Amino acid sequence: MKKQKIFIACDTTSLKKIKKIIKETQNSKLIFGYKFGLQFLNSKNGRKFVSSLKNKITFGDYKLADIPNTCASAIKAVRDLKLNYITIHISSGLKALKAAKKVSGKTKLIGVTILTSLDNKSLKEIGFEKEVKKLVLHQAKLASKAKLDAIVCSPQEIKIVKKVFKKEIITPGIRLSGDSKDDQIRVMTPRQAFQNGATALVIGRSLTDNIKKNMQRLSKELN
Ligand code: C5P
Repeated sequence: MKKQKIFIACDTTSLKKIKKIIKETQNSKLIFGYKFGLQFLNSKNGRKFVSSLKNKITFGDYKLADIPNTCASAIKAVRDLKLNYITIHISSGLKALKAAKKVSGKTKLIGVTILTSLDNKSLKEIGFEKEVKKLVLHQAKLASKAKLDAIVCSPQEIKIVKKVFKKEIITPGIRLSGDSKDDQIRVMTPRQAFQNGATALVIGRSLTDNIKKNMQRLSKELN
């Protein structure tokens, strides 16, 4: 069976915590990658640490949302990090997605759909007319058109996305059984997400709140 892939959301500014996360996730049954977001990448030592990582799968969660030139320039500016993955909001528009893809080289470009912290009510608040599922389907078609390498969506939308997007489907909004949703809304357990067809998961707090103990819980849930 193909090994299951999990990106750990390294949402901290503490190098000590990140080193501990990496140490505790050396597990031969699963493939781990490390997702660094704005918090760590903008911290004093964050960028340097990421550039020093060797033989690790790295994911720069920049969530770009800007005009085409700015998105492309930002991607060029982090080329030296040799990241395996970078994120851009699909809502940046088709031209920005294409401009970003043109310069992303070997780094896989991931299109982010509607955030897993939003529901239909929040979409209405922002001014969107469509409901979550329809909007995610629409965005997945755009990601396909722009030839993006992967999509980030909630595990609740995997089946819809799969109809129109044939590459990697990466799902945050993951909680081990019984854990609090925190600020997330559209969540599932790791097992359910893989069963629905996720090619990789992003898991943060449900693992990192107590990495050693929660790694054991994860192994049990996936067995
Ligand atoms: O702690 P938790 O598992 O909720 O963390 C999820 C991670 O995935 C965070 O780093 C968040 O920024 C990211 N993310 C998300 N929803 C998206 C895209 C990324 O939660 N749609």
